[in-house]
Amino acid sequence: MRVLIVGGGGREHALAWKLAQSPRCEAVFAAPGNAGTAELGENLKIHDSDIDGICAAAAERRIDLVVVGPEAPLAAGLVDALSERGILAFGPSQSAARVESSKWFAKSVMQAAGVPHAGGELFDSAQAAHKWLEILGPDDLPVLKADGLAAGKGVIVPDHIDDAHAAIDEMFAGAFGSAGERVVIEDRLSGMEASAMAIVSGTDILPLPLSCDYKRIMDGDQGPNTGGMGVYAPPGFVGEAEDVFSSIHRPVVEQMAADGCEFRGLLYAGLMIDDGALSVLEFNARFGDPETQAVLPLLDGDLLPVLEASARGDALPRDAISHSGQASVSVAIVSGGYPGPYETGKPIHGLDAVDDSVDVFHAGTAIDDDGRTLTAGGRVLAVTAVADTLAAARGIAYDNVRRIRFDGSFQRTDIALRELS
Ligand code: AMP
Ligand code: GLY
Repeated sequence: MRVLIVGGGGREHALAWKLAQSPRCEAVFAAPGNAGTAELGENLKIHDSDIDGICAAAAERRIDLVVVGPEAPLAAGLVDALSERGILAFGPSQSAARVESSKWFAKSVMQAAGVPHAGGELFDSAQAAHKWLEILGPDDLPVLKADGLAAGKGVIVPDHIDDAHAAIDEMFAGAFGSAGERVVIEDRLSGMEASAMAIVSGTDILPLPLSCDYKRIMDGDQGPNTGGMGVYAPPGFVGEAEDVFSSIHRPVVEQMAADGCEFRGLLYAGLMIDDGALSVLEFNARFGDPETQAVLPLLDGDLLPVLEASARGDALPRDAISHSGQASVSVAIVSGGYPGPYETGKPIHGLDAVDDSVDVFHAGTAIDDDGRTLTAGGRVLAVTAVADTLAAARGIAYDNVRRIRFDGSFQRTDIALRELS
């Protein structure tokens, strides 16, 4: 099969890496890809939002399966556009992608399916939202969410009720564009967070190992949110993984199918776990980034037939992949200044000094005319180690992170530490 991966981050490099190992994979393309995907196949100079460009390239290159990484093209209807042209694509339709692209749609599905989630209300005016905040009272801090996609920035967790009022004004003034025309005010939950991803084909579900990502820039979960500073898998605090998928993913996909909105693709639940009790904070309609960089290396077997079956809406080949039973730790190396303004174009040193057993997934990287690998984004690399224990994986990951250098590079030093101390 000829496979085209849409996107250019660490998630897409990890997908290209796993799919390229399939005996059935003849060629891998990425649009637009990065320096990592360029080593596995051909990068196409097409932005992931260019639906016509991707459809044309897929037809021209005789692509057998398109795998869509990011949420924006899914929400814009890329899979529908490819299907109309007879091109097989892994990922939900635009309608089913609403489970991520509308917080309120996701809540309605969970409500109907009886899935535990944070309660909330939908507002389409600042005035009504302010009124609701006043009823809540000063100590009852909520969470505010732009209903639509806001590049991962549409969730505000205020420290003070005045900040909540200010955020409402900003959201309705257009801080998140059309994504913030409707705002959900949600109950604030506490506990530990985990990510639960499953490949879905209608009502058939194939769970992947659970994982935990670290969103804040600094050790100890301090500082602003980022696209993800590291991941470990699997977490020890979640309980039986099977219970997560039977109590959350199963009722949700059954509800969506019953509503005529069948889900095919990757369904990711962002969970809050408080004393063993699960609640859903959000759904994503795609592989997590950076979770994918820690989870795919834990899978034995061939992912390609699984994605193909999901794309066709067929029964998933359950024996094609299995969890190796090992643990993984993935550490992001980011550009100095990230998530604020940062410089790019810095030569990356030490990539050839990394152990063979360690996977370095590229995110913001590019190759210059002299063949050097340069930084080209905020998150630059994800260094993933797999071992029999989480402690061993963590040791190997950091040992290898230390061998990679570029001007201004930065990483957290505490990924997976909370499970080990
Ligand atoms: P998201 O962008 O939807 O992943 O949300 C970003 C982060 O906001 C989550 O990882 C949580 O840490 C936090 N968050 C979202 N919803 C809630 C909630 N209802 N209660 C507490 N924290 C939340
Ligand atoms: N790691 C969070 C996400 O992929 O949205």
